[in-house]
Amino acid sequence: MTEASNTEGLRCNLTNYGDPGFALFLRKAFIKGSGYTDDALDRTIVGIVNTGSGFNPCHGNMPQLIEAVKRGVMLQGALPVEFPTISLHESFSWPTSMYLRNLMSMDTEEMIRALPVDAVVLIGGCDKTVPAQLMGAASARKPAIQLVTGSMLTGSHRGRTVGACTDCRAFWGMYRGEEIDDQEIDEVNSRLVGSVGTCSVAGTASTMACVAEVMGMSLPGSATPPAVTADRMRFAELTGQRAVELAREGLTIDKIVTPEALENAFRVLLALGGSTNGLVHLAAIAGRLGYSLDLAEFDEMSRQTPVLINLKPVGEHYMEDLHRAGGVPRLLQELDSLMNKEVLTVTGRTLGEEMAEAPAPFEQDVIRERSAPIYPAGGIAVLKGNLAPNGAIIKQVAAHPDLMEHQGRAVVFEGLEDLSNRIDDEDLDVTADDVLILRNIGPLGAPGMPEAGYIPIPKKLARQGVKDMVRISDGRMSGTASGTIILHVSPESVAGGPLGLVQNGDQVWLSVQERSIELLVPEEELQSRTEASAGKNQVEIPKRGYHKLFIENVTQAEEGVDFSFLQSETLRGSVPQRR
Ligand code: FES
Ligand code: MG
Repeated sequence: MTEASNTEGLRCNLTNYGDPGFALFLRKAFIKGSGYTDDALDRTIVGIVNTGSGFNPCHGNMPQLIEAVKRGVMLQGALPVEFPTISLHESFSWPTSMYLRNLMSMDTEEMIRALPVDAVVLIGGCDKTVPAQLMGAASARKPAIQLVTGSMLTGSHRGRTVGACTDCRAFWGMYRGEEIDDQEIDEVNSRLVGSVGTCSVAGTASTMACVAEVMGMSLPGSATPPAVTADRMRFAELTGQRAVELAREGLTIDKIVTPEALENAFRVLLALGGSTNGLVHLAAIAGRLGYSLDLAEFDEMSRQTPVLINLKPVGEHYMEDLHRAGGVPRLLQELDSLMNKEVLTVTGRTLGEEMAEAPAPFEQDVIRERSAPIYPAGGIAVLKGNLAPNGAIIKQVAAHPDLMEHQGRAVVFEGLEDLSNRIDDEDLDVTADDVLILRNIGPLGAPGMPEAGYIPIPKKLARQGVKDMVRISDGRMSGTASGTIILHVSPESVAGGPLGLVQNGDQVWLSVQERSIELLVPEEELQSRTEASAGKNQVEIPKRGYHKLFIENVTQAEEGVDFSFLQSETLRGSVPQRR
């Protein structure tokens, strides 16, 4: 080693062959085939996780980012070496990216462990990639720092600013309602995504970027610069520099992602009006470190946390606007007393120290003051009741105020195929006051808990101008979507949850005020339906492969949809902590 530190570089993991000297000799001989000198190889090694893929435009700036990270590493006198893991894009991950997230986390964990790296820079961006990387790094316990690819630029359609994917949904809704024609829907298709980078609204990618920053896993200010900007590349260089110091300090994720840091992450998720998926991912990350999610405490926190960010789908702006308005550091200034400031971040300093150095506030309309919030409570509320004994959630900030207290008749769909066969049937017995129920789309059911909880408004109602209805499922929805949509119903129907007992015509009662979701059917009737359904509607265990691993091990939404065998063996407590 050229410096006194925790680093081992190429000498890491030399146990194979039972002869460490020979293992190192071989390792050096092989890598010298790439033209390295002994001087280069005798240094701290920073691994850079390359998640570029021709099928992942959200990571389309990967080559430039890697170059900038390498520059940062070399400026600190260490050796950067990139290596690939799988890459997941939301639109190119059949059957759903959530199904593959745990696979990516295992790939990340095992490669970090396997390779002789003293620290890693995790480069991710698209929805499932950042959680997968943080989950993997949490389990691997080597020093790690997150760098996100950054958001895409917005586009422009007939004079209107547009961005993926809230506007994708808005335009598709107009097309279904026959408000726009074939020509316009084709035209806008080329306008929605202005460049490489992640979705430009407060979807899951933006949510996880902000959450990773506030959790202390990426550099302050680095969540929001768009993918193609100079700011983004500067953060990449700085991330590379910091990774070298992390390696030398031996600062691992378990020292950063403490219960207090997770609480900060939940807080920012709520204040952003962020993606409901953020909650699932945070539960999974927490589970890797030995903490379980307490939904009741999260709901308490939601009652005290206003939504301050004026971003689509809840507000009007885009990620590039949030960046110009000061990004996460500016939001933290506003949340101030709600944050746990003593927590350590990846910079080696506390969050409070970083907050004290944030740029001075200026006039803007993207990050609201606490006295003038977008919404007085947090973006997500937790519901319970006989329909969801282990909880369900609603993104209340994106729901229609008139539907938050609602009773209606159930119209039940048995799964994705049934939904697509019947939702637009002109003879479907449905009115705007009904409650649409979609079951069998939970972690086990679909499998992989697809984002189909955003059930489309039946075409015949859409044509009449109906824009929202109460919709309930055991699935998820995209962070870019909005509506009065109850998600993550747990237990899911194929795991024996009561959602499986609902019949067409049953009355369903929703009260967000009372945090309640009830099936208004007498207990005896539910009991006899339970008996009648015993043994039916179970998931078949696949014979082989990842599908088998998934079905045999996946947990429910409140446990993060992680595999049980990947969770920490030691339970250290719950988060957010009881006050
Ligand atoms: Fe990748 Fe939205 S599809 S972030
Ligand atoms: Mg998404």
